[in-house]
Amino acid sequence: MKVHDKSNPVRYIPDENRYETMKYRRCGKSGILLPLISLGLWHNFGFIDLPEKARKISRKAFDLGITHFDLANNYGPPFGSAEETFGTILRKDLSPYRHEMFISTKAGFDMWDGPYGNFGSRKYLTTSLEQSLSRMGLEYVDLFYHHRPDPETPLEETMLALDQIVRSGKALYVGISNYDAEKTAEAAKILGELRTPFIIHQARYSLFDRWVEDKLLDTLEELGKGMIAFSPLAQGMLTDRYLEGIPDDSRAGKEMTYLEKNQVLSKLEKVKALNEIAQSRGQKLSQMALGWILKDKRVTSVLVGVSTEDQLTENVKSLDNMEFSDDQIKQIDSLLSYK
Ligand SMILES: NC(=O)c1ccc[n+]([C@@H]2O[C@H](COP(=O)([O-])OP(=O)(O)OC[C@H]3O[C@@H](n4cnc5c(N)ncnc54)[C@H](OP(=O)(O)O)[C@@H]3O)[C@@H](O)[C@H]2O)c1
Repeated sequence: MKVHDKSNPVRYIPDENRYETMKYRRCGKSGILLPLISLGLWHNFGFIDLPEKARKISRKAFDLGITHFDLANNYGPPFGSAEETFGTILRKDLSPYRHEMFISTKAGFDMWDGPYGNFGSRKYLTTSLEQSLSRMGLEYVDLFYHHRPDPETPLEETMLALDQIVRSGKALYVGISNYDAEKTAEAAKILGELRTPFIIHQARYSLFDRWVEDKLLDTLEELGKGMIAFSPLAQGMLTDRYLEGIPDDSRAGKEMTYLEKNQVLSKLEKVKALNEIAQSRGQKLSQMALGWILKDKRVTSVLVGVSTEDQLTENVKSLDNMEFSDDQIKQIDSLLSYK
């Protein structure tokens, strides 16, 4: 039963059943369990967005047993604003539950002017994390990522910076993102020698983008590392969002996003066909798209973005059916011309 605190009517009290429906999966061979659905704050948490909406989405996530919240220094816009918005939400609602949460941030893309605000130097990574902690009002993050490989900085420098960050107590674990299988193995070797808790790789993976199946998933399994799939709904294309056109309030309908209208239109035929398969399974397309990724136990979690609480509730229901018959797999592969 929820208690109404009269002295503070807006006080957030999480759903007491929040751990009953969510499922959790071990992240590689680490001690960490992550929810099968995690929440990403790339969009909808910037200063251009409504703070109350961001707050409602965060509360709903926690109520649904989503313990993992993923940020980066440059999420917004403007850069840094998603971390600030989340800092406010923590202060207002979630900070009493900080110990139940697994919060990540990253550095690696363009963040500030001059030679030290991009890529993978020790200078950039350590300074950026200091700034992220200050924006969120945190003493530490649970996970700090190098956001993308840097072709020029020696890998050893970047990995030593991650190691130092853990030793300084500013992050509990580290991860890498957007690294190919070979660079991942090299990074794992250096971090293994240093005994740095490197536990996870964050990579784009969806029905429309299957590059991780070539080598990366096998490599991560061999190394005992987890994998979290970003943009699992292909930024919303693998949902019913665009079946009837491009709504003004959708990601493709807005300016300043990385989803072009043409990209959406070029996929529409396949999206409609996938939608029919989802319907035959008694699911929404979004739910089938997430379940299809999660059927592979090497994937620890899918990292979704949402613009409403209802989208999040719908996505979590994908856990009700993650089984695919051989026929369904073949049907999907042939539809997407995948061998
Ligand atoms: N490491 C990296 O380089 C990297 C890169 C990109 C993302 N990420 C991480 O991955 C997270 C997720 O990425 P993403 O936002 O592209 O993921 P996504 O889940 O593929 O797309 C999210 C969008 O899909 C739509 N959507 C979600 N659920 C829906 C539903 N049930 N029905 C209809 N539409 C639905 C919403 O679009 P509308 O806004 O149109 O409603 C939402 O904004 C990011 O927040 C970030 O944490 C990491």
